[in-house]
Amino acid sequence: MDSIAITGGARLNGVIPISGAKNSALKLMAASILTDQPLLLTNMPRLADTKFLGRLLGELGVSVEERDGADGTETLFHAREITSTFAPYDLVRQMRASFNVLGPLLARTGHAKVSLPGGCTIGARPVDLHIQALTAFGAAIELAEGYVSATAPTGLRGAEIEFPFVSVGATEHALLTAVLAQGTTVLRRAAMEPEIGDLARCLTAMGAKIDGVDTDVLTIEGVTSLNGADWSVIPDRIEMGSYAVAAAMAGGEVRLSRARPELMTALSEKMVAAGVEVEPTADGVIVRRDPAVRLKAVDVTTEVYPGFATDLQAQFMTLMTTAEGDSVIHENIFENRFMHAPELARLGADISVHAGEAVVRGVPSLRGAPVMATDLRASVSLVIAGMAAEGETTVGRVYHLDRGFERLEEKLSACGADIRRVKGDGHEH
Ligand code: EPZ
Repeated sequence: MDSIAITGGARLNGVIPISGAKNSALKLMAASILTDQPLLLTNMPRLADTKFLGRLLGELGVSVEERDGADGTETLFHAREITSTFAPYDLVRQMRASFNVLGPLLARTGHAKVSLPGGCTIGARPVDLHIQALTAFGAAIELAEGYVSATAPTGLRGAEIEFPFVSVGATEHALLTAVLAQGTTVLRRAAMEPEIGDLARCLTAMGAKIDGVDTDVLTIEGVTSLNGADWSVIPDRIEMGSYAVAAAMAGGEVRLSRARPELMTALSEKMVAAGVEVEPTADGVIVRRDPAVRLKAVDVTTEVYPGFATDLQAQFMTLMTTAEGDSVIHENIFENRFMHAPELARLGADISVHAGEAVVRGVPSLRGAPVMATDLRASVSLVIAGMAAEGETTVGRVYHLDRGFERLEEKLSACGADIRRVKGDGHEH
């Protein structure tokens, strides 16, 4: 199994281009099922997760053609005909976003059988809200042996749905399904994450009728068919935020390009409060930090967008490990998303966790050690910690990292980080 080896202490200076957003790309890919016309996605991130969903789409009959475009990688999806409506356990359990093919399959063909995604290391993460939405659209749903079988022999009908709490996945799933349901759908307490806006705009380009984009009430007028479209995936705000924290932790000056700084306002405000300089530019943001000046501890609570993103909580916790004072970090979105805390402690951090709250007591410095990645965002937080720690840190189980960060070692080493991938056979790359 590969690991990442980092020798800490180098400053970060240079430019990091931000890739297309994983969490947008995965939902846009599911939208390709809704039409027999080609959907071209540009600014596509090359990640294990997108490759994986591409494989599942291929199993369903969607042709998937990855190529080099003028604007980075692009992928052409063409669901001329859906040849299978079965998504097996093996292809869904590894990635929860695969479950979102259920609604589009149902809308396009009238039936589908998709495995339940199963548990996940960051908490129970059920799909009850997804199922309730599909049921409201008139689908008959049966749960048996770990599978959801759904049928809508007479088609889907629009519905008024008020989610009991905000869910990114359920909002996207309902939206993907409603665009082809007959009549009007209203989704209340919809999630407002920028990736949902991206999906709604792409669906609109395909001919869908959606009102209230970027608000918490989405109104969808069903259409009978959708066209193809060319769509550029929104920049990844979590990748941008992760590198912003990396620059703040290591010190130096990094320009994040091809990015949308307004999508990380909650993070920027906290970084500025801690003593980091954050300056928006025409196509991104410059992050500057004088390593001679110690950062100050600030508290953070994760919230739904536009609040502080749970996907940046682990990275921010890392930044706080060497700040002056105590930082209290509340995790509101997931019940078990502090697995990085004991790994950070191996590097010398002082963190105590009680239920959904972590208290980080700043220490003067971290020391390198072998650590294990526990999930995607936790793994990047360990890489960031390793870059600032004295000596050598190795981060194991990097397959987590490969799910969501494109060419991470390349992007960081281009800015001066001493970071390399060590193959399972012990060879460095
Ligand atoms: C999306 O997950 C993202 N994943 C997550 O990013 C992100 O952390 C999360 O949104 C919150 O921003 C993708 O987009 C692929 P939710 P999702 O439904 O849709 C509970 C990453 O690292 N819930 O908003 O699964 C759920 O358990 C990943 O890229 C139900 O109870 O998040 C959680 O506590 C990690 N029933 C809360 O809601 C449901 O039916 C929010 O989950 C659905 C969700």
